[in-house]
Amino acid sequence: MHETSAIIERVKGVGHKIQHVELAVHPLLADMKAGQSILVRLNKSWDPYLREQWWPVKFAPGKITVERPREIHYEPGSEISVFGPIGDWYRFRRTLRHVLLLAYDTPPTPLLSMIPMLLANQTSVTLVLNGSAITYDTRHLSPEVEVVHGDADLNWPNRVMMLGLADQVFAVVRPDDEILRFAKIWQVFEASRAEIPRNYLFGVFNPVLPCGAGACQACMIRLKQGVALTCMDGPAIDLSQVML
Ligand code: FES
Repeated sequence: MHETSAIIERVKGVGHKIQHVELAVHPLLADMKAGQSILVRLNKSWDPYLREQWWPVKFAPGKITVERPREIHYEPGSEISVFGPIGDWYRFRRTLRHVLLLAYDTPPTPLLSMIPMLLANQTSVTLVLNGSAITYDTRHLSPEVEVVHGDADLNWPNRVMMLGLADQVFAVVRPDDEILRFAKIWQVFEASRAEIPRNYLFGVFNPVLPCGAGACQACMIRLKQGVALTCMDGPAIDLSQVML
């Protein structure tokens, strides 16, 4: 983990509510991978507020592109303070034909960085937007991604078949009560499958990260055995191991 600076190089609106911000980053962030994020302070001098967590959606040599709300103005050429990389990579099964991504009452942004890699490896991807997530504009996503809309009770067309076809599932939920929403997702899977194996259904946790370095314990998740820190062991945590 390093504190470095980055330059905002380009800002592009990609939907009604979102924009993509391309950053030229320090070489220390060159090997960031899908799953990892950065903590950002726009003002290079110290301020009393927590850093914002920015989620990459694309990686290129020396650059990362992050997705941000469109109503915030970012000035190309500005220098920002970056702390990262935060968290661990998304881990995939060796044999992977189909991955299901779920966003429940929140934009799917933390999940998007894995899509280019999965498609390049001939893995098909379905993105299911549930509840208020259906307002997320998906026109900038690859046309190879199947996008499905579900409701606030996690019903969507062909749900049982999709759960059966998925080799792995990654879900992100609104951060106000992640355990409650992940528990609802777990119940849906439990009702549709005979068993939920390990390394199959992951919650991508997205709480406020005061330190991002494993020091403050504010991002602690209770597991069936022990605890995990989102900023060190996450963001993806196997829900079969979480106390839901
Ligand atoms: S944010 Fe401080 S320990 Fe994770």
